Amino acid sequence: MIREIVIYGDPVLRKKGKQIDEITEEIRTLAQDMIETMHDAHGVGLAAQQVAESIQLTVVDVSDAENRPSRMWIDGQEVDPKEHMPLILINPELELGRETEIGPEGCLSFPEITADISRAERVKVKALDLDGNPVSFEAEGLLSRAVQHETDHLNGILFIDRMSSATKVTLGSKLKKLAAGE
Ligand code: NI
Repeated sequence: MIREIVIYGDPVLRKKGKQIDEITEEIRTLAQDMIETMHDAHGVGLAAQQVAESIQLTVVDVSDAENRPSRMWIDGQEVDPKEHMPLILINPELELGRETEIGPEGCLSFPEITADISRAERVKVKALDLDGNPVSFEAEGLLSRAVQHETDHLNGILFIDRMSSATKVTLGSKLKKLAAGE
């Protein structure tokens, strides 16, 4: 089922997600709905807060982003990211690499807004899958950026918090309108 995506201004986007201790049927349904909702909106990631649930659950799928490459490693072995999409990440924990990279970013909760954001180039991810099994991988490129953006959401952090102040000033009136529901 496609769920309604929460738009900037809704306080749920600022809520830190609760840890998931038990993977219930409701969480399975929510994860499937989030994948459907993300695909329907042509997004590369969606966090639970964006469908008004503040829990540590996010989905990511970079397989349709042809012109924005991703790299992925499992147990140190490089794998084809497409074979591992969509990703469902429960209680994700990130270890950020030291090198950073600036790249364009958007967010389904901020329609029509994109901005350059600095992120760690490489990230190490640890999470649980929908069966409660540990998942761990390393990523670069769009996948790295998407996982960092989505994990921020789970902690109530939005990409506007990571924009340069100049960018935020430029987008000021657009952001105000969004938050006012105009
Ligand atoms: Ni987002």
